[in-house]
Amino acid sequence: MPRDPRFDILFEPVKIGPLTAKNRFFQVPHCNGMGHAKPRAHAEMRRVKAEGGWAVVSTEEVEIHPSSDLSPYIEGRLWDDSDVPFLAMMTEAVHRHGALVAIELVHAGMNAANLYSREVSLAPSAIATSANFAPAQARAMSKSDIRAFRTWHRQAALRARRAGFDIVYVYAAHGLSLPMHFLQRRHNHRTDEYGGTLANRARLLRELIEDTKEAVGADCAVAVRFAVDELRGGDGIEASGEGRELVAMLAELPDLWDVNVSDWAHDSRTSRFAPEGYQEEFVRFVKTVTTKPVVGVGRFTSPDAMVSQIRRGVLDFIGAARPSIADPFLPRKIESGDEDDIRECIGCNVCVSGDYTMTPIRCTQNPTMGEEWRKGWHPEKVPPRSGEDDFLIVGAGPAGLECARVLGRRGHTVHLVEAQTELGGRVTREARLPGLAAWARVRDYRLGQLLKLGNVEILRASPVTAEQVLEFGARRVVLATGARWRRDGVGRTHTLPVPGFGREGLLTPDDVMDGRYPAGPTVVFDDDHYYIGGIVAEKLRREGLEVILVTPAERVSAWTVNTLEQHAIQRHLLELGVRIMTNTHMAAFSGDEATLECVYTGRRSGLAAASIVTVTSRESNDELADALAASAQALGAAGIASVVSIGDCLAPSTIAAAVYAGHRYAREFDQPDSVGFRRELPQI
Ligand SMILES: Cc1cc2nc3c(=O)[nH]c(=O)nc-3n(C[C@H](O)[C@H](O)[C@H](O)COP(=O)(O)O)c2cc1C
Ligand code: SF4
Repeated sequence: MPRDPRFDILFEPVKIGPLTAKNRFFQVPHCNGMGHAKPRAHAEMRRVKAEGGWAVVSTEEVEIHPSSDLSPYIEGRLWDDSDVPFLAMMTEAVHRHGALVAIELVHAGMNAANLYSREVSLAPSAIATSANFAPAQARAMSKSDIRAFRTWHRQAALRARRAGFDIVYVYAAHGLSLPMHFLQRRHNHRTDEYGGTLANRARLLRELIEDTKEAVGADCAVAVRFAVDELRGGDGIEASGEGRELVAMLAELPDLWDVNVSDWAHDSRTSRFAPEGYQEEFVRFVKTVTTKPVVGVGRFTSPDAMVSQIRRGVLDFIGAARPSIADPFLPRKIESGDEDDIRECIGCNVCVSGDYTMTPIRCTQNPTMGEEWRKGWHPEKVPPRSGEDDFLIVGAGPAGLECARVLGRRGHTVHLVEAQTELGGRVTREARLPGLAAWARVRDYRLGQLLKLGNVEILRASPVTAEQVLEFGARRVVLATGARWRRDGVGRTHTLPVPGFGREGLLTPDDVMDGRYPAGPTVVFDDDHYYIGGIVAEKLRREGLEVILVTPAERVSAWTVNTLEQHAIQRHLLELGVRIMTNTHMAAFSGDEATLECVYTGRRSGLAAASIVTVTSRESNDELADALAASAQALGAAGIASVVSIGDCLAPSTIAAAVYAGHRYAREFDQPDSVGFRRELPQI
């Protein structure tokens, strides 16, 4: 299809210092849990983005010195010359597709606990390290430390140029780097020329920009990433105050401004807490105070929203981290008039959890993310079928939809049957909960793709029995029947049923999603610890109920620390008036009273409660699998070659895991032996 001329402006070239970007799509820095530990996987992931049309592809934060050691987190590393060849793999790969490649040089200062290097952390002033409550303090940098740091930064810029980078970032954002720490009054208590006035606190940033320009500016563009607002009021940098003053002060010094808000949780807000384009109000001033090109972010997936940013003079480049993870081919799809095929980011931040858990990046929408090298998976290409096969997929939730999509793309005949009238399974149900509407994109993208395939038949409102599966006559059967929430209280800390659970009046998240609400004061017991417990509490509170959220964890929705949401969730619930009781087990429920137990002392207390919503764990809908397993002989007689369970009906997990399971089966069912576990081993 030809490109819609409305979007032409997105494909204009833009000059950045001595270089020209071929369009306005800018993949801003994002870590990925591969970094220095898995350089081949990292290079291939970035290459795919370049192939997908991004004009600029950036690294994640890249440590420039052992005193900025972020271990155990896996970021980029450029401590010395030995790191150059690994990063050069990325630049070569990205250059093959005509994209510019950027590196974000980072000294994390007091944010680096230096657990591997055992160096003493550095900061503008003597202060406790901010890394996970590590019991250590950073020392105040002397003038000679500042000189040394400038030398390391300069050397890193020279090495970056040698590795083939086109754009070198000076990083002062997220509260995660030394130049930012110097800017922050709360961290910079110095009384010399690097402390006090904004001009003094900005001195280090200015020097780093000048040093970098002087070192590599003839060939490379020098970018600054700066958080114009920390969203902490007068205690921090504000766009209406020092944020604006700083950009105005250094306006023409760098070749490019990449501006956002801080801290990371504010910058990478989930869709539960912010809509697309949420950073505009903070960054819109930037282009009024500099003539240099400006990059901004805001989970942009709509080409119209992007065009609007450019036309209204807010941004020159559409910066994207998550939209480029969910769909590395986003620019190409707009360019070729296929914008309806964009796999839009749902704003869940599962991608961020890779960094927090120190494992390769995963994405709910894009199951190939992080698997480009290990499995050789491409986000847009699937291998054609090796032979003809006929599939019956039972269940059109995230696993079933993705499995049908990929099998259909491979050219197989697919019958997708769903018991309900609506498709999408848990995704459709959960997307009705407060703040999760964007999650329906998991269903909508796949449905949109399936409707384009002539070889996939979708049957709604069609519950099937084992006998019907046998009669159906498909050669391969895939069960993707999902899971349901347990009623007996078995969860993460209670591995046996809770006395009194399972009785009448006790509800689960499934009941709430089906519109069955409790009456009277309600305890939401969360022993699951991801998002559902908190959201169910929110939902019931919004229905006007008195809600007490009880959890054995130390905080509400504890796992959402890994998606940068925990603070926002707890704050939100408190503001809504949900009572929160942490570190508390559920010992029993009598029908009108819950018996609670302190996780530390075992002391028990009673809590009057008319109802309980139990959010503990789920059990697979495996009845059909069991019935088919019991009919092994009949399967052979019916010509069925295989029956497999995928996703939640095999073992309940995240939506990301369900999509991955569907994708994996569809790619690998016919080549199980050829797909080994490809690893990157240290060379000896
Ligand atoms: C998985 C992930 C890792 C990130 N890592 C970095 C990083 O290393 N350096 C950085 O400056 N920003 C990092 N960010 C922030 C992004 O660059 C970006 O500013 C933010 O996600 C908002 O843009 P988006 O809405 O397009 O995702 C990261 C974001 C994500 C989602
Ligand atoms: S994991 Fe979620 S937030 Fe991250 S890119 Fe994928 S869909 Fe977007």
